[in-house]
Amino acid sequence: MTTAAARRWLMCRPTYFAVTYRINPWMDPTAPYDNGLAVAQWETLRQTFLGLGHTVELIEPVPGLPDMVFAANGATVVDGKVLGVQFRDAERADEAPAYKAWFERAGFDVTDPKHTNEGEGDILLAGDVLLAGTGFRTSHAAHAQTQEVFGRPVITLQLVDPAYYHLDTALCVLDEKNIAYLPSAFSPGSQAVLRRMFPDAVIATAADAAVLGLNAVSDGRTVVLPAQATDLAAALRAAGYETIGIDLSELRKAGGGPKCCTLEVRA
Ligand code: ARG
Repeated sequence: MTTAAARRWLMCRPTYFAVTYRINPWMDPTAPYDNGLAVAQWETLRQTFLGLGHTVELIEPVPGLPDMVFAANGATVVDGKVLGVQFRDAERADEAPAYKAWFERAGFDVTDPKHTNEGEGDILLAGDVLLAGTGFRTSHAAHAQTQEVFGRPVITLQLVDPAYYHLDTALCVLDEKNIAYLPSAFSPGSQAVLRRMFPDAVIATAADAAVLGLNAVSDGRTVVLPAQATDLAAALRAAGYETIGIDLSELRKAGGGPKCCTLEVRA
């Protein structure tokens, strides 16, 4: 465990949140959802981040883009460099220029992606290196571009379970040195890589992952995770972290949790 530094996070209010299409197994367009409750749950997450002393910036939501609340998919930002995104699914394609414009207005140069790349959903900074998922969304070719853009080693991890379609649904970076993850979401070779790199990792149970418990946001000291992931919260506390549980049950109907709603801006 390391000390918490103040973070700068970008979020998008779920004003137009809805479940109207199905691009991952969590989404059921025939099931009811409550937009007002989604906004209220998201607001609790934002207030929690502010209460921890972090900076939260907001991007204006765009009508007709119900998944835009999942800001993690808007870019990858490391060392002040921004790599833009290219979504696999047409339903989310128009989010890419919206996020790009936000970063340009904020004074960043944005490198355009050459391949399918869903940002921090699949590309996570862990200490000095980037962990990159592939198998469902972000293409393997995007990992090579990511390494070129950031000049940091990129470790490719193969995702194998459709329920854990983005890396950030199966793995959480806790601090510079450690992670939590669900081994069965990864291929045997990728599990071996994770064991080698993170021998002291917190191992999540299937039940923790099934409530998107690993879709958590850590500032190095406090881990903000779905309230329903009670075993994972206990394991994190045993490992020395503080935990705050947040109920994001409405956003889970789209396959997202706290981390999906949060994009780190590393200037
Ligand atoms: N409905 C969205 C999708 O399937 C959820 C995205 C969740 N974001 C994430 N970073 N895992 O694309």
